Amino acid sequence: MKRDFLSETDFSSEEIRSALALAIEVKAKTKRGQCPTPMKGMVAALIFHKPSLRTRCSFEVGVRQLGGGTVYITDAEIELGKRESIHDVALVMSRYFDVICIRTFGHASVEELARHASVPVVNMLTDLLHPCQLMGDMQTILEHKGRIDGLSVTYLGDGNNLANSWINMASRIPMKLRIGTSPDTMPDAKILAAAKKAGLSEISVVHDPVAAVDGADVIYTDVWASMGQKDKAAEKQKALQAFQINAALVAKAKKDAIVMHCLPAERGREITDEVMDGPQSVVFDQAENRLHAQKAVLIKLLA
Ligand code: CP
Ligand code: NVA
Repeated sequence: MKRDFLSETDFSSEEIRSALALAIEVKAKTKRGQCPTPMKGMVAALIFHKPSLRTRCSFEVGVRQLGGGTVYITDAEIELGKRESIHDVALVMSRYFDVICIRTFGHASVEELARHASVPVVNMLTDLLHPCQLMGDMQTILEHKGRIDGLSVTYLGDGNNLANSWINMASRIPMKLRIGTSPDTMPDAKILAAAKKAGLSEISVVHDPVAAVDGADVIYTDVWASMGQKDKAAEKQKALQAFQINAALVAKAKKDAIVMHCLPAERGREITDEVMDGPQSVVFDQAENRLHAQKAVLIKLLA
């Protein structure tokens, strides 16, 4: 049966671990000019309904490195459910492509697409989740910390797709996860309840930024106003100002804490230049690892 990667929870804990091991192996091989080419003769659809630097480029380059080809598709070709039904789009695209990768607004649309497609569907970001980002991030943590289990991870800022993805990841990999956010910018309640119920990790939402980062191994942030929500930027800034990652806040975490951001960053807003360009920042390693972690996900799905 075909497999999709719409959510971190589509993979078991073991599958996440083996994908991360594969990502590290594929990264080393790629650097030696020996990336495996299991996608030879295959073509990936890359559907984008929102802008992208990292995701588009890392998928375009990654699929080529795996020996395959890509077709970049925008609203001009597909307006999900407008020009034709998602059902029909899924059936048509399954006749052309070996894998369909999509970045769009509604998560339910991606689930519907995956339900009707006979080829794997990969979520390249929805308003709800960004699982490919999390795979690259876990790879980065593994490289810098030597492990992914039992770390203290603090996500600071908006309770958005990245916050939700971290909560999902905590239902697969044991960690102490603290979401530092305001009462008005909470993550998805259903995802939070499900991850708490899974009982694997210690998960809490904290409204005090200092308490949120106390003793953290990893401090993570994202823009306060996501794509499609830029009209809420002023409101979000007011609610989240106290959660800015600056040098004073980083000093409250462990001495060897790493600072992460999925990028793009709004420098001076959710993170200061001093921290983003400082010695604890691993943000560009994260960006690089998108390439290798996604290749590992594609290899697994297409095996
Ligand atoms: N982090 C990330 O997904 O970046 P893009 O929006 O540039 O793809
Ligand atoms: N939360 C951000 C992530 C960008 C990679 C957004 O959805 O715009």
